[in-house]
Amino acid sequence: MPEDKPTSGQRGDPAANAAQEVSPQAVQQASQHWDPLRYNKNAGFVAELGAPLLDLLQPARGERVLDLGCGEGALTAKIAAAGAEVVGVDSSPEQVAAAKARGLDARVMNGEALTFEAEFDAVLSNAALHWMLDPDAVLRGVAAALKPGGRFVAEMGGQGNVETITRALFASLQARGADPVKACPWYFPAPEAYQAKLEAAGFAVGSIALIPRPTPLPGEIGGWLETFAEAFLKQVPADDGPALIAEVAERLRPSLCDSEGQWSADYVRLRFVARLAG
Ligand code: BEZ
Repeated sequence: MPEDKPTSGQRGDPAANAAQEVSPQAVQQASQHWDPLRYNKNAGFVAELGAPLLDLLQPARGERVLDLGCGEGALTAKIAAAGAEVVGVDSSPEQVAAAKARGLDARVMNGEALTFEAEFDAVLSNAALHWMLDPDAVLRGVAAALKPGGRFVAEMGGQGNVETITRALFASLQARGADPVKACPWYFPAPEAYQAKLEAAGFAVGSIALIPRPTPLPGEIGGWLETFAEAFLKQVPADDGPALIAEVAERLRPSLCDSEGQWSADYVRLRFVARLAG
């Protein structure tokens, strides 16, 4: 189990803690699937907001870069456009097919079982690491994939990420007798805990910080839930899904929907730059 501890303000609150303390075995990746069309409609902002990572990465012409959790390849394409030779990996065959359709070198691969050996100058990961519930296995694979001195630049959900949404989901699922702790597919570590993991894997950490970033959504919160919270929604019978989504949306409306009807998600990013020992 990831050992990141909740902050004192969250201690003892299962809804707040679940996303940080979930057992890696609790949820199968199969509980989430990625439909590129639905993803583009409800989550196109993910790659856009990941663009600052490219400034941190500074991909150079001729470098070999791994994009870990490349999705449908929007950021991968930008790395390629900078002149780097980029390989994207993702566990979703649908997303990899969409990335290949852009002409990218994209491969289906589990981020917790990377198979590369000392072949990349840099690894980039945007909004993917929080779906990988065995972070030590991920970091072992990233360290093995990098050449000595290679850099690892990433952004993921950090401690407190989507806490308001998680609380609402928990309340509605528990009211139905479901066990949302078991269903939670996300890992949102604190910076101190993740830095310790990076160092244990052989990295020197240049910077690591939590960045609160409330994020306007392109549509209603229901679209976000359908796209990202599938593992929770699957805890109820399919014919109860629409009612569950509507109920969670009403719980969230006062805090996440403004008077103009604009929804946002209470994102908190964990962004870091690390370098493998040379
Ligand atoms: C995120 O990018 O922070 C995120 C995405 C999906 C679910 C939860 C968090």
